[in-house]
Amino acid sequence: MNSNRTIETMRRVARPLLLTLAIASVAMAQIQFDQARKVWLITSPHSSYAMGVGPSGELQHLYWGGPITRMEDVPAAQEKKDISSFDPHQMLENEEFPGWGGPRYYEPALKITRADGDRDLVLHYMRHRLQGNDLEITLKDIRDDIEATLHYRLYPEVGIISRWAVVRNGTKQKITVERAQSATWYMPPGDGYRLSYLSGRWAAETQLNREPIHEGMKVLESRLGHTGHNLNPWFAIDPGNAGEEHGRVWFGGLAWSGNWRISVEQTPYRQVRVTGGFNTFDFAYPLNPGESLETPEFYGGYSDHGFGGASRLLHTLELTDIQPGGLKARPRPVLYNSWEATTFNVTEAGQEALADKAAKLGVELFVIDDGWFGKRDNDRAGLGDWVVNPQKFPHGLQSLIKHVNGLGMDFGLWVEPEMVNPDSDLYRAHPDWVMNFPGRPRSELRNQLVLNLARDDVRDYIFNALDKLATEYNIRYFKWDMNRTFAEPGWPEVAPDEEKTLWVKYVRNLYDIMSRLRAKHPNLEFESCSGGGGRIDLGIMRYVDEFWTSDNTEAFDRLRIQEGFTEVYAPKLMSAWVTDVPNTNGRSTPLQFRFLVAMQGALGIGANLNKWTDQDNQIATRMIALDKRIRSTVQYGNLYRILSPRTNDTTANEYVSKDGSEALLFAFRHSQEYENPPPVIYLQGLDNHAVYRLESIDGKLLDKQSELSGAWLMQNGIHLDLKGDFDSTLVLLHRIH
Ligand code: GLA
Repeated sequence: MNSNRTIETMRRVARPLLLTLAIASVAMAQIQFDQARKVWLITSPHSSYAMGVGPSGELQHLYWGGPITRMEDVPAAQEKKDISSFDPHQMLENEEFPGWGGPRYYEPALKITRADGDRDLVLHYMRHRLQGNDLEITLKDIRDDIEATLHYRLYPEVGIISRWAVVRNGTKQKITVERAQSATWYMPPGDGYRLSYLSGRWAAETQLNREPIHEGMKVLESRLGHTGHNLNPWFAIDPGNAGEEHGRVWFGGLAWSGNWRISVEQTPYRQVRVTGGFNTFDFAYPLNPGESLETPEFYGGYSDHGFGGASRLLHTLELTDIQPGGLKARPRPVLYNSWEATTFNVTEAGQEALADKAAKLGVELFVIDDGWFGKRDNDRAGLGDWVVNPQKFPHGLQSLIKHVNGLGMDFGLWVEPEMVNPDSDLYRAHPDWVMNFPGRPRSELRNQLVLNLARDDVRDYIFNALDKLATEYNIRYFKWDMNRTFAEPGWPEVAPDEEKTLWVKYVRNLYDIMSRLRAKHPNLEFESCSGGGGRIDLGIMRYVDEFWTSDNTEAFDRLRIQEGFTEVYAPKLMSAWVTDVPNTNGRSTPLQFRFLVAMQGALGIGANLNKWTDQDNQIATRMIALDKRIRSTVQYGNLYRILSPRTNDTTANEYVSKDGSEALLFAFRHSQEYENPPPVIYLQGLDNHAVYRLESIDGKLLDKQSELSGAWLMQNGIHLDLKGDFDSTLVLLHRIH
């Protein structure tokens, strides 16, 4: 592989550096317990978090914010007084994990029904276990042996805490869990807070919203079966005055790829609380005696460096602790995928010709999208039949893969394993494998039905089909797609009161397949796609190497989609393609603009290379070579969103390598009005005393000095000659001393 050397260099630079940073902060981070006052304090250089046991035994939240070093400052948990018979003290005591019982009317973390109909649940502290950065606190119902063990795991280098709960039925009767949340988070008391969240729809995902929090509740959720295009499981809350690089921001992300829910609630007592976990809608999970249910992880963190600071903490956590392989995983290679060029018309000769062209441009991973299997000539047939179509590929995939590998590229394949077309051999053999309510319609979307992956036989079928492909062929990469939402989520083969467990078991089996495939094929990588960005979350991130950000690859729309994406998710995980114009929305932007937009993430090419001119090929070859030069800074560096596409006629994003030796400024002018000059761009994250050599890729840098100090670049800014519509540039800054 021609990129081996670059990859090695990146590893050498990025890894030790991140590790050194991590080790330095580990030394300053810890979880302490004060036995006398029953208070826990979780501290890192970025933030602290405290809770304690109140006089009657409930676990109360005590502090979340900037770092606190003196344990004695944190007061013991107090019992509050009732304000009136309508305002019981329970509503004022910020319980870390409240059961639904007694006079509690806010969002509970746990709600159950016992077999005898009793639904009261009051959780009190029982015991705890503290081991390094892991704390477990077990709460128990005041009468019954129904326990919730709360897990807190501190990631010291970023101060982010992962919280989840395990609910256990230790009684002799069955209970049904009707609500199981991972955690409740509390802001410091007060009002005037503001909520940031991501919303959207297919081809318009991850749009950033900011709005005031008022009394009452706002629910972010998915009832769709997958994470969803509409809302993403993330929140950020600030006191109303934070910016990209200043101000206090509390944030959290839920690691779940099925029905999820995050409620943001302001009580009448000027208290903002956030509760998240499994969606409570259509939820019922029976637990027989001795059984337990584990909730997804809910990560929470704090930054006093604004939204940018919050994003960088999350990005670091994702790269070091969540994504498979952590920092040992290779940088994302430059990819080619012919979907937008050829759609279902894939043939061996056609793909080989595209592979030849892609390799010449410098592509490193060649992916065949939909259309290679079964009777898949359009979206009406074939899903479920994961066998190579013999008309399109008379020699199987073997000779094409050999060809691709011979060109120095890895080979990747599109699959949509959870789905079936009624017109498929799989459906004809197993019509009972789809989720359904007997005798009711089976709603098709894109002519397909959803397999009930909660069933173990369906899970095994999918595992075996993909394992066979990965064993038979030299496949480096699966693009794992999922192109519709659930409907009629019935599971007639299990007892009626077990049916709703489908929502949870489906996702667990999905994770199980991916993790087993990865264990068996250690080089295999996955892209998580769901009709674009329908399955982007911290849960599936444990198993995948990148996300398909959106089916919308139009470069200007992408600026906003990518802005929202990077609020939560690291640029390394953000697939971004250069495609042909005019795009589906009718807009045309220059090729350099499209490249620079895509080079802010994991670069891919999705254009029809057969139609590219010599000039297009020249630009592409140059930009791909440039991408390889800079991608370690893009993929592992610190991102500063300097100018937002939502509020300016120019978007600017800066990436600074973790060791500070390189910075990249991407700038895009969308549409100039009048003779307005382009905005001055004040760089961020540089060293005041360092001197940087400036390198412009296209002469659009107006500042004439080729060397400038960090102080000047951040205080006086730099000036770019960006004019008209869809102009773009990239400036590289190399630290020289
Ligand atoms: C979805 C994906 C696309 C493409 C098609 C193939 O829409 O998001 O990238 O793979 O399916 O059918």
